[in-house]
Amino acid sequence: MISRHVFGQPIETGAVIMTIPESTQAIAVMNTALGEDGITLSCQMADTDVVYGLGEQVRGMNKRGFSYISYATDDPIHTENKHSLYAGHNFLILSRTNEPSFGIFVDDPGRVVFDVGETKLDQLCITAGSDCTIYIIKGSSLKDIARQFRELIGQSYIAPKWAFGYQQSRWGYSCEADIRKVVDEYHTRGIPLDAVYLDIDYMKDFKDFTVDEEKFPDFSGLVSDMKEKGVHLVPIIDAGVKIEKGYPVYEEGVQNGYFCKDEDGQDFVGAVWPGKSHFPDFLNSRAGEWFGNKYQWLMDQGIDGFWNDMNEPALFYSEKRLKSVMDEILSMKDENLGLHSFYHMKGRIDSLSGNPEDYESFCHNIDGVKVRHDKVHNLYGFYMTKAAADAFERIAPDQRTLMFSRSSYIGMHRYGGIWTGDNASWWSHLLLSIQQMPSLNLCGILYTGSDIGGFGSNATQDLLMRWLEFGIFTPLMRNHAAAGTREQEVYQFDNIEDFRNIIRIRYGLLPYIYSEYMKAVFNNDMYFRPLSFDFPDDAHAASVEDQLMVGESIMIAPVYTQNATGRYVYLPQDMLMVRMKSMENKSCQIMSKGHHYIDIALNELVFFVKKNHMLPLAAIDDSVRSTTDCHFHRPDSDYEWIGFADESAEYMLYDDDGSTKSYTPKDQWIKIVRSAKELSL
Ligand code: GLC
Repeated sequence: MISRHVFGQPIETGAVIMTIPESTQAIAVMNTALGEDGITLSCQMADTDVVYGLGEQVRGMNKRGFSYISYATDDPIHTENKHSLYAGHNFLILSRTNEPSFGIFVDDPGRVVFDVGETKLDQLCITAGSDCTIYIIKGSSLKDIARQFRELIGQSYIAPKWAFGYQQSRWGYSCEADIRKVVDEYHTRGIPLDAVYLDIDYMKDFKDFTVDEEKFPDFSGLVSDMKEKGVHLVPIIDAGVKIEKGYPVYEEGVQNGYFCKDEDGQDFVGAVWPGKSHFPDFLNSRAGEWFGNKYQWLMDQGIDGFWNDMNEPALFYSEKRLKSVMDEILSMKDENLGLHSFYHMKGRIDSLSGNPEDYESFCHNIDGVKVRHDKVHNLYGFYMTKAAADAFERIAPDQRTLMFSRSSYIGMHRYGGIWTGDNASWWSHLLLSIQQMPSLNLCGILYTGSDIGGFGSNATQDLLMRWLEFGIFTPLMRNHAAAGTREQEVYQFDNIEDFRNIIRIRYGLLPYIYSEYMKAVFNNDMYFRPLSFDFPDDAHAASVEDQLMVGESIMIAPVYTQNATGRYVYLPQDMLMVRMKSMENKSCQIMSKGHHYIDIALNELVFFVKKNHMLPLAAIDDSVRSTTDCHFHRPDSDYEWIGFADESAEYMLYDDDGSTKSYTPKDQWIKIVRSAKELSL
């Protein structure tokens, strides 16, 4: 049951697709107070209560013990003292043992603070603006609450099937030869690869919808050559538009008033990669349509996937602030800078990027209504992505186009996925990424993954390997790294054989991963779940922070500490442990419910299968270079079925052409039944 409570005059955010009548009753599950800062909602939490949700955030799956601020921020240092990452995902579930659990969605695209027991351990306190809509969701279980929320916000985006293959990226592939080399290196080693990313280096002077012709003399030729090899090229699109006379995107935006305006009604000037830039007003439907149509130029050259970046929007500085900071610093030129003055100066430099006051200094024209940016800040990335997705519908209505974004708000999951931004090659970030997945799924974001191996810092061979062993299960499986870091393609390391084996397992598991993804989409379920969602009566399950349920049959317990040769795993029921060093080298063992220490070698994937469940494993041989070579449209008997059952197990297998949107006909689901004897143990 969902109730809707309206405060003030909220902006229509587009987060929700269902019409829920406004409740005439007060919110019963939380105390509501209207103060100077806006609305405050609070309630007590018992010791055993658990808080799930908030999507892309720092810290664990249970969000208790910290404050989280929904205010999309371009901050690449995702440490546990940070309060904001790139998104505003204002949904959480308070899971309670003594009273009914409930979900709450705060539909306010401005700054919202979730104090989940930081100030007072037993208090949940949410502060939103005075104009917002609150949805309270009650249900029979955590899964039921999650499902109702997902029905409220609409069906998740479906990526093309190739986007479920392994993908390679790096900021720094700067010319055609670089791209060809990556593909060759993978292919000569027999490692499957479905996509290579084009970071900002492909553009001319970091201008959106341009290609540097010196470095990419025959761009469309390259795109089609690569596609013949089964590799899709995925260019980045940034939010900021370079200010440059004669550059059509700039000129058209200025002429038509499509950019965000500052307080004086001038086009707001902030800087990103290209230097001084304007920012398309994606919240204005005409501006969105105009910008969206620009993707066509790349699509006409064979591109069928994009990633939208810097759309918090990131600001290196605003023109006005830079001037005042520079003036002040220059005036200090001859001073003897000591404790206070030196740190003051440093602070002034640091205050340039993503300054909250800059976000208060420009406006949107939401189809005739002027709205200050900070009030709708978290919608910017959402509407940039919606603009693109709406354009894909016009340009290529039957085709699935890969789209994921860095910034997002609830509701964007209908238009694309996200990646979790600029993490680092740290073991703690491997754990963070494991913990972010179910929180993101709760918010509808199913097509997601982190930069495998870590974006910043230098990855080591073991970190990359362990990260891939987790990444095998994330729908977006992309290795990405920052310019200046150690090269991180798997062939840069020793023991390439092991990397090949692990990546091939991903392809072997694709029928499962794809079926489970589609089930999660169509049933409004979570693909990744904390253990407590499946085992609500198991008192220990709720405290397990480093294991996940993946789809209906699998539980994973990734290794995320360096030099570990195994780890403790909690089994909430008897399960089948599957060990795989390669598609050929596999063993299974039934394990009893409880705690176990499991040895897991560096080159080994270990996962667990729920009792009376099973999963398909496709045969992957040397001929498989990408998903194009995976002929999943074949009789199910080609699959090996792994599982264990008292008598028999059932599985709904899904498949489709992977590229069009004809994914509804019933015959794409096949029910498979296997007796206990027929299952691979
Ligand atoms: C941002 C993105 C990162 C990208 C870089 C250069 O930091 O998050 O993925 O590589 O910009 O475009």
